[in-house]
Amino acid sequence: MNSQSLTVKTAIRERRSIKLFNGQPVDPQDLMEIFDDAKWAPNHGNRQPWRIVLATGEGLTKLVEVIREFAVPNWKEISEDELSKKLAKFTAPGAMAIVIAAEDLRQKERLEDYAAVSSFIQNSQLLAWDRGIGACWKTPGFLEKPEFSTALNIQAGERPIALLQFGYFDVIPKEKAKKAVEEFVTIFGE
Ligand SMILES: Cc1cc2nc3c(=O)[nH]c(=O)nc-3n(C[C@H](O)[C@H](O)[C@H](O)COP(=O)(O)O)c2cc1C
Repeated sequence: MNSQSLTVKTAIRERRSIKLFNGQPVDPQDLMEIFDDAKWAPNHGNRQPWRIVLATGEGLTKLVEVIREFAVPNWKEISEDELSKKLAKFTAPGAMAIVIAAEDLRQKERLEDYAAVSSFIQNSQLLAWDRGIGACWKTPGFLEKPEFSTALNIQAGERPIALLQFGYFDVIPKEKAKKAVEEFVTIFGE
């Protein structure tokens, strides 16, 4: 499915975070088009404070090798079977993107930039969903490790804020209960 078909409302309401991918690769061209549309996310001062490191194909295999060091530090000591089980959540996606936010020294700008990159990420997830590609925003602890940033060539003044997994899936997860709108909206003046 390459042409946009869902309404904004349907995409927002029916998107689910996909955590079980079926291993089918995602065409990098699809993701480039998704990011090219996602860049229309709101961002203060048009700073466009995002940067993406995209891994597909052989790059994806190399990224999993980097992740292996952090996610399974004792990987050399365990069986191949055990290792592949522990790494399954990183090997099953058909592509992964490290989404990086500019880290402004000024607090207001830093928060604005984090918010803008979050909007970019949600745009990407919705655009992927529209193409039948599942996504999940993940924040594994190693995103915070300086050694991980070094391995990914992430510079000072940048912060990785998401491991964004993409891929095809066989099962759509059930919706989770949400609060009624009246529970979180207060009508001012009443
Ligand atoms: C900032 C952020 C961090 C998240 N980190 C993780 C994560 O580390 N692992 C994970 O399985 N899901 C993660 N998620 C996805 C949430 O689990 C998911 O959005 C939530 O369960 C609601 O499900 P839905 O997206 O299908 O509506 C994260 C989502 C956000 C916005």
